[in-house]
Amino acid sequence: MNYCPNKNRYLNMPYSRVGESGLKLPLISLGLWHNFGSDDDYKNMKEMCRTAFDLGITHFDLANNYGPLPGSAEENFGKILKEDFLSHRDELIISTKAGYRMWNGPYGDGGSRKYLLASLDASLKRLNLPYVDIFYHHCMDKDTPLEESMGALYQAVKSGKALYAGLSNYDGETMEAAAEILKDLHCPFVINQNRYNILDRTIEKNGVISSAKKLKKGIIAFSPLNQGILSDRYLERIPENSRAAKNEFLKASEITSARVRVLGKLKSLAEERGQTLAQMALSWVLKDTAVTGVLIGASKPSQIKENVGLINASGFTEGELKDIDALAEEFYR
Ligand SMILES: NC(=O)c1ccc[n+]([C@@H]2O[C@H](COP(=O)([O-])OP(=O)(O)OC[C@H]3O[C@@H](n4cnc5c(N)ncnc54)[C@H](OP(=O)(O)O)[C@@H]3O)[C@@H](O)[C@H]2O)c1
Repeated sequence: MNYCPNKNRYLNMPYSRVGESGLKLPLISLGLWHNFGSDDDYKNMKEMCRTAFDLGITHFDLANNYGPLPGSAEENFGKILKEDFLSHRDELIISTKAGYRMWNGPYGDGGSRKYLLASLDASLKRLNLPYVDIFYHHCMDKDTPLEESMGALYQAVKSGKALYAGLSNYDGETMEAAAEILKDLHCPFVINQNRYNILDRTIEKNGVISSAKKLKKGIIAFSPLNQGILSDRYLERIPENSRAAKNEFLKASEITSARVRVLGKLKSLAEERGQTLAQMALSWVLKDTAVTGVLIGASKPSQIKENVGLINASGFTEGELKDIDALAEEFYR
């Protein structure tokens, strides 16, 4: 059936400026790391994209290696775009990345000009697009001069294959050095993509938040639910087809009964705030104004609907934040 997007899709979702750039991103973006691969159900992934767009989610995040098979998420999304969203391309922000291992041999990962530019060309081919909105260097590569990797991002923008440049998994110090190079090149570096959630505070300690504030760059937080742990997903058992059941990126052994008890306490706290656990976890990430938006994953449309329900959440009291900090500590005890 032809897809006809919800006419009211822009009424509720807030859109925030990315740093001091002109680009705006929705409070919630959808990532296609999981559940968009060659073995996943095409109808379900299409329904997730439709649900997201209908709710005002304009930003879809990919990487060259998302699948499995690597590249298949871009292929599937390219097909969905063609079938459903082509006439809405100017309403969408589509991002991709290169950095981790994508093909065999010495030029299949890292931060060389050779790898990054070849990978972007391959991504565009799979997505069937002439350009992406944001092209990220996916991870730091200490073996390649920063000038070379940043030069490749600049080249991607200059050639019209990307509109903006982004850095992912960079620490604050390296991000600042990269930002200086990109500034000299007049390359529109606007955003950092880093892991951040109640249970993972790394970017508070490695300088990303303070550097992004100082440089007026955006932050989009990935794995805001710690891959689903910070939701109702595992409160009773490890469901079939859940990420923990797949036991690859999230290990079933991480879901201990002691941890589930802590999650139960977090859920009670969320309920007192009138939220689900997932909604509270997302609100927590968004409480710092340095964070432009959260980048969620999903395996079904209902999860996206629930998560978007955070939109009208109230702020946290000092007491709530203290309780959450104490429970985060208890989780790792
Ligand atoms: N730059 C990087 O290095 C990097 C790394 C990781 C991720 N990312 C990006 O960030 C995106 C999100 O990462 P993520 O998938 O780890 O995020 P996440 O939102 O922390 O976890 C998503 C998973 O949580 C579960 N979930 C989501 N909403 C739920 C709900 N309301 N109730 C119960 N369970 C729920 C689902 O698990 P089930 O599948 O079990 O249902 C879903 O697949 C990725 O797609 C990717 O675009 C980037």
